[in-house]
Amino acid sequence: MRRAVIVAALTLGTLWGAGLAAQEPAPAEALQGDPAAGEKLAGQCRTCHGIDGLARIPIAPHIAGEPAGYLARQLTDFREGRRQHEMMSVVAASLTDQQIADLAAWYAGRQVVAELTADPAGAPEACIACHGADGIAVIPEAPNLAAETNIYLDTQLKAFRSGKRVNEIMQPIAEGLDDATIRAAADWYGAIRLTVAP
Ligand code: HEC
Ligand code: HEC
Repeated sequence: MRRAVIVAALTLGTLWGAGLAAQEPAPAEALQGDPAAGEKLAGQCRTCHGIDGLARIPIAPHIAGEPAGYLARQLTDFREGRRQHEMMSVVAASLTDQQIADLAAWYAGRQVVAELTADPAGAPEACIACHGADGIAVIPEAPNLAAETNIYLDTQLKAFRSGKRVNEIMQPIAEGLDDATIRAAADWYGAIRLTVAP
């Protein structure tokens, strides 16, 4: 609770500084990713995320057009056990730093278009500074939320709130959210349409 109050009192700029300083860059982020090599590796991902990064199953997120640094960090976190999921922990276990950089380059390079169908004034105010009203991230450290299923978004927010998923920025934010607010934010971002340019 105390953390949430302190965070709320900080300006956004300070919040970024404080949060990001504590966020170790993944080794793969320092490597040059090769998107063509990433496309080949993405054959291992296609049943769940598609070759183009549009998810094929409701519990998997869309990863097309996400910031490369975000993708590299999540894959490294799964590999090293900082983020856990029965499917992704297995997938990431055998990836090298270079393969992670290549996959990140491939999926980050997909061009996505988000289409809001509701009045942007209804967007969850506490989220738009980083995730945008249309769910396209406005800072490179944050993921897009556009068109993720509300099941996925709900699960991730509750994981931040309980501390199962660790992040300096999102944990204090999620700690301040009740189930209904989580559901409303998940429904907002889940209702956005997302397409990947061919
Ligand atoms: C069997 C299905 C499956 C396969 C295969 C799979 N994934 Fe996933 N992936 C998931 C699921 C489910 C999640 C959500 C995990 C969670 O709830 O934390 C996920 C999450 C992710 C995330 C986190 C995205 C975010 O927005 O936080 C990334 C990045 C990712 N996968 C990349 C990959 C890559 C790259 C491959 C191939 C090398 C791959 N995945 C293969 C099911 C899969
Ligand atoms: C100050 C910036 C900031 C604000 C404000 C913010 N977020 Fe985030 N959010 C982030 C960052 C950074 C991450 C990446 C966390 C990580 O690396 O695990 C993230 C991750 C997430 C994820 C995980 C998405 C995925 O693909 O796995 C969800 C869901 C999320 N935020 C929802 C929200 C909601 C809902 C709000 C408003 C109540 C919000 N965020 C406000 C910065 C922010």
